[in-house]
Amino acid sequence: MTSEDISSKYLQVRNLVKYFGDDKAVDNISFGIDEGAFLTLLGPSGCGKTTTLMSIAGLHTINSGAIEVGGLTYTEPSSSIFLPPEKRDIGMVFQSYAIWPHMTVTQNVAYPLEIRKLNKSEIDDRVAETLSLVDLTDMAEKNATQLSGGQQQRASLARAIVSNPRLLLFDEPLSNLDLKLREAMRVELKRIQNEVGITSIYVTHDQSEALVMSDEIIVMSKGNIEQSGEPVEIYSKPNNKYVSNFIGVANLLDAKVEKVTEDGSGEVTVQYGEMTARLPCRIGRGVHQGDEATLSVRPENVHVSRDKTSDSSIEGKVENVIFLGNHVDCRVNWGEYEWKVIAHPRDRLKEGEKIYLRFDSDHTLAVQQ
Ligand SMILES: Nc1ncnc2c1ncn2[C@@H]1O[C@H](COP(=O)(O)OP(=O)(O)OP(=O)(O)O)[C@@H](O)[C@H]1O
Ligand SMILES: [Mg+2]
Repeated sequence: MTSEDISSKYLQVRNLVKYFGDDKAVDNISFGIDEGAFLTLLGPSGCGKTTTLMSIAGLHTINSGAIEVGGLTYTEPSSSIFLPPEKRDIGMVFQSYAIWPHMTVTQNVAYPLEIRKLNKSEIDDRVAETLSLVDLTDMAEKNATQLSGGQQQRASLARAIVSNPRLLLFDEPLSNLDLKLREAMRVELKRIQNEVGITSIYVTHDQSEALVMSDEIIVMSKGNIEQSGEPVEIYSKPNNKYVSNFIGVANLLDAKVEKVTEDGSGEVTVQYGEMTARLPCRIGRGVHQGDEATLSVRPENVHVSRDKTSDSSIEGKVENVIFLGNHVDCRVNWGEYEWKVIAHPRDRLKEGEKIYLRFDSDHTLAVQQ
């Protein structure tokens, strides 16, 4: 995103730098979000997600850069601006259930309105409305300790949204829940965010969570942004090997770029052991003729057949077949490379048989290494 693109956004993070001692945790990142949108910071442990979130919340002071939300500057060290956290009007939901155990659900959710000194009847109305939204009406008078993990996270969410803040921040809020509940809560949380329309930043290292929930994803590594974009764009047009590997499953092969044409297509050669193939593909951003690149092919875009159906088909040997009901996960040996392939059960692939692999050139992408 260019600085011009960012300057029209509701939330703007510009050239954010954050050190801890001599270590740079966030290395000059910039991004923006539209009002009401849901943005996810995705990346492995230690890449700077929480640091970015805490900098927005005002729980860390930043070294340089600027953070602005809805025309209000939260912080800008070069102008000595630092708005304290309580003046930033932010709702937060964390991994650990931050609701107070000695209070009822209603008291927990009412708290942000009480410190804003709203009158009693308004507080009652808004708490009831919010508890209904998160489906906790029946639990209103229960003590927080009597709630299940999922219910506690709903109560945290209710408390975060009850005052209709300018911004919602989530730091891995679902990671303490078991898989089934986590999957249900993703959808639920997204529904609620959609309904209240509060601009949200969500931190996770779980790529499927990011794909399901986000309007936009920022993939981070080592304090930097590797790529940002809509989920489908990040998945189908990764900028580089790192992003391709981090999101979804991909066959990633060392490739030499032989040809690049103006329409963004081209050809690469791949060689593994005895086997060599020249494959048509799309050429990703920053990849040029003659480059050593990575060829990225999703398993669902590798087509199998018993006959050679295209000049660029390659012949391999089925190594492993796992039947998973509606699809078949298989591995196909080709020289020293083992392709991950998703086949259809009706293909009836058998371990040990020879088959041809064909690649749709629109879904075969040469990316930077
Ligand atoms: N309070 C702190 N003091 C010193 N170093 C810190 C502090 N907080 C974070 N760091 C360092 O900054 C870097 C980024 O940490 P951060 O917590 O932002 O990562 P993260 O992406 O949230 O990781 P995780 O997925 O594990 O939560 C790490 O190298 C971490 O060790
Ligand atoms: Mg973190």
